Amino acid sequence: MNASTKIGIGTPLSRVDGVDKVTGAAPYAAEYNVANLLYGVTVSSRIAKGKITAIDEAAARAVPGVVDILSHANRPKQAWLDRSWKDELSIPGEPFKAFHDAQILFAGQPIAVVVAETFEAARFAASLLEVTYEGEAHNIDFEASLAEKFLPKPGSRRNNYHPPKSRGDAQAAFNEAAVSHEATYHLAPEHHNPMEMHATTVEWHGDGKVTVYDKNQGSQGVQAYLASAFGLGKKNVRVVNAYVGGGFGSGLRPQWQVQVATMATIHLERSVRVVMTRAQMFTHGYRPECTYTVKLGAEHTGKLTSIMGDATTSTSRFENNMEDIVTWGMMNYASPNIHGEYAIAPRDTYTSADMRAPGAATGMTLFEIAIDEMAYKAKVDPLEFRLINYSEVDGMNQTPFTSKALREAYREGAERFDWDQRSPEPRSMKEGRELIGWGVATGMWDAQFSKTSASAKLNANGHLEVACATSDIGTGTYTVMVQVAADTLGVAPEQITAKLGDSDLPTAPVEGGSWGAASTGAAVQLACETIAKKLFKAAGKMDSKPLGDAKFEDVEFVEGTIRRKDAGGQPLALTEVMRASEFTVIEAEETASPGIGGMISMAQKSRNTHSAIFCEVRVDEELNQVRVTRIVNAVAAGRIINPKTARSQILGGVTMGIGMALHEETFADARLGRWMNHSFAEYHIPAQADIHDIEVIFVDEPDAEVTPLGVKGLGEIGIVGTAAAVANAIYHATGTRVRSLPITIDKLM
Ligand code: MOS
Repeated sequence: MNASTKIGIGTPLSRVDGVDKVTGAAPYAAEYNVANLLYGVTVSSRIAKGKITAIDEAAARAVPGVVDILSHANRPKQAWLDRSWKDELSIPGEPFKAFHDAQILFAGQPIAVVVAETFEAARFAASLLEVTYEGEAHNIDFEASLAEKFLPKPGSRRNNYHPPKSRGDAQAAFNEAAVSHEATYHLAPEHHNPMEMHATTVEWHGDGKVTVYDKNQGSQGVQAYLASAFGLGKKNVRVVNAYVGGGFGSGLRPQWQVQVATMATIHLERSVRVVMTRAQMFTHGYRPECTYTVKLGAEHTGKLTSIMGDATTSTSRFENNMEDIVTWGMMNYASPNIHGEYAIAPRDTYTSADMRAPGAATGMTLFEIAIDEMAYKAKVDPLEFRLINYSEVDGMNQTPFTSKALREAYREGAERFDWDQRSPEPRSMKEGRELIGWGVATGMWDAQFSKTSASAKLNANGHLEVACATSDIGTGTYTVMVQVAADTLGVAPEQITAKLGDSDLPTAPVEGGSWGAASTGAAVQLACETIAKKLFKAAGKMDSKPLGDAKFEDVEFVEGTIRRKDAGGQPLALTEVMRASEFTVIEAEETASPGIGGMISMAQKSRNTHSAIFCEVRVDEELNQVRVTRIVNAVAAGRIINPKTARSQILGGVTMGIGMALHEETFADARLGRWMNHSFAEYHIPAQADIHDIEVIFVDEPDAEVTPLGVKGLGEIGIVGTAAAVANAIYHATGTRVRSLPITIDKLM
């Protein structure tokens, strides 16, 4: 039969949650109307390190409407005081616990919450709290922190950290190389600033149970955290994050406002809401600052003989956050000699955190600037240089890839961009007072898969509901679930409801690492396949034998019917099967685990997405103002479930990459120990006027081994390498090589 009548995988379905979002019908964590609600406003530490010596609450408590003030001095006892709790993406160390004791670990640390009948009363009273401190010497300067850098011992490292694997004698090969390059690159710290700030509304049910509307990337991770932290038991905690206004990784770990709101709720036995201010969004994780020294050696032809990387990223003094920085370049290129070193440097801030493509967005980007420099030294076109050093296998692990269509991405991207029209010399392209530069870079990210469960429920009226506890942080998970279900059962998307973002639903991990579509999609498919089999079985029991002697393999589910693939007989409506069998509902729940559906293990093959980014910048010759006028990002990410939402993911990633290249940077005030620019007035992200043409290409990359649906994931690859393409284009335009991101105007003078 005609498979094109299916609206399923591969169709550009508009977001099924789109109308609810733009009309305000979709509630976010701080928008749930809860009866008898109290408002908590959190007070932040003014010092970076030391201890609280006194809190004078008198003036604050005198404000009409103030119900209570909680701090380390009077907080309720909590089960996690044994410090045994670890979050889902565990970072070795001791997770921060608000109001634990008088100790101050970072500036902006939440030290008290004022709870009142109105938000205004709470906010005013919070401003009246008199806190005295005893300060200690602190350091938040990255350069200074490097003196204390260290590599945590195996066992005290993050479980998703991959140590670099060295091979050959990279130093000797570097020393003997005909062409060589050595430079140190730097990335400024960046703070995640999704539109929706971290917020929690805790609903107190009076029977010891709470419903927690929380902004996060995984409802069940927060549920486990609260159940453990407050000794509640999971059955008493339901966490809902049905709509999330962006995450970028800031919601992977429970943030402190959910702890504070829940603490106040349990203590006061009333519902409480706590919302971080925009300034407080700078008091939790951030993309770690990084210094990365790259050494490259090559033959005269440009063929690499040595790749060396030595990187350090920042962490806090209470947790060891680690990233994969130096591995990416070693995986992506072919070189007989490779060597990687990595360390972390502690400072008196909150722990750094995962932020969109953690590790790769930093490591691959900075490495791709080094590759560009090397191409110029070798006098080889930067795209040609990458092709000369193309690796068919994972260059570090020496394992084959399940698929790697990067060559096609380079070719299709270059064609679309007209790369062959580029004049090779820096400062050789100009129009009016604008210097024009064209740059290229490579992106690479993991194609991951996480064990995920989903349920499906077909009602007698033909309506299908699919459900999974996963999150949709703006990535399009709702839509993907509907499409996979529509594809598997042949039910029209309008007849399908997807439910997610609720800890009561079938088990799912945090939405992160770009594994959502592949993992949730596979689970939904499995659950719908089970429904299909039940329907087929029921059809077989019908007296009229509408499918004859057909086996399950001989039928297909299309347009709300089961029909024989050989076109024999009449299509049989699913609702008719339900009616004949007297089913009011058919239900199934299935779990997709790594290894199902022909998936190959990491040990056997590397699983990655790749991209080729081409960028045009125009730089005002007198003012050094940079405009990114054109980007073509050609992505190889396996099978694309929805070209429309997939494109949006890449547009968002590229936009964030432009921010990494030109805007985003949190400045440390070493004297005060604070992040200085904790507002949108001073922390810059690209605005509409900064973004011009972005073109997205998905190259064909069939892959039967990577995940059951052949999907690799798209949430993060768009940012990886984009800032390098911009930096390389700026060099081509101006002849000035900037090795520290962001490239602000002062660095071009
Ligand atoms: Mo992403 S940093 O895994 O949300």
